[in-house]
Amino acid sequence: MRLWVSRGFIHVTSLFFPSYAIASLLTTERKHCVTMKSCALVVLLCLGYGMMTSSFRAAPPHMWRNLILTHHWPNTFCSEEHCHSTFDYWTLHGLWPDVGQECNSSWHFNVTLIQDILPDMFKSWPDLKKPTSSEFWKYEWQKHGTCAAKAESLNSQLKYFGKALELYHKLDLDGVLKRADVVPSETLYTFDQIEGALHNFYNVEPKIQCNFPKGKNMQLLGQIEICFNSEFQLEDCVHADRDNHIDNHIDFLNVKGTGLRVCEPSTPVYYPPMKGIPSM
Ligand SMILES: *[C@@H]1O[C@H](CO)[C@@H](O)[C@H](O)[C@H]1NC(C)=O
Ligand SMILES: *[C@@H]1O[C@H](CO)[C@@H](O)[C@H](O)[C@H]1NC(C)=O
Repeated sequence: MRLWVSRGFIHVTSLFFPSYAIASLLTTERKHCVTMKSCALVVLLCLGYGMMTSSFRAAPPHMWRNLILTHHWPNTFCSEEHCHSTFDYWTLHGLWPDVGQECNSSWHFNVTLIQDILPDMFKSWPDLKKPTSSEFWKYEWQKHGTCAAKAESLNSQLKYFGKALELYHKLDLDGVLKRADVVPSETLYTFDQIEGALHNFYNVEPKIQCNFPKGKNMQLLGQIEICFNSEFQLEDCVHADRDNHIDNHIDFLNVKGTGLRVCEPSTPVYYPPMKGIPSM
């Protein structure tokens, strides 16, 4: 909302500014305006300039409005991708702006720049298939980070990855679910129990995605997205993705086209513990 207000403000000032410029130009140019034709030309040039600058300022190209912090549940991920998860907590998948992908191919990922936060990166944002690798972060930076970086608050690799970690720790998904007695278990949950736990605590609409094992009347809890506005305030995910195409994210980890999609409200949900994941 605030962004729209400030855009409106900029729009208004830049509309006023050219007319100011035209007025003063006309005053100073009056002596030189020997014919009506040359005066009209000055006015047209000024108007053209004014329109150009106002459209530039009104809408910074490809500026995003919302951010999606995506967490995945390692056991569910690994049941599809045949990895061996050693993580018994929600880990980061990414911090995605709602607009843009691969916004700057010449801005290369450089792990040296995030050296100070590497211990937390390996712990909170591991590459689940190769836990000692930084390839996943490189991919996320190129695809999403370079777009997020259009905002001053995220315009370096340290700021981008650091902010994702900060939001992740603030959200404390594991703790929030646990406090509502939603813990990894062989017992199935209703979708409402899980959605309700998150909604009650954060007071916004999350986006919850599941995997669907064939021939079983259950869904595996797979991914949870929590959305923010550009000021990093919580926001409903349904609003955040109303007018764009978040579901088109074919991500690094989903290259095999896994069946991750929005959970079914009426199908029992399995939140798989470290052991006991059904083969899919
Ligand atoms: C792309 O990234 C490079 C390297 O950081 C930077 O110099 C350049 O200004 C960026 N280009 C745009 C359009 O942001
Ligand atoms: C990565 O960043 C470091 C620190 O700024 C710099 O010294 C190094 O040259 C960079 N590496 C590459 C490959 O750009």
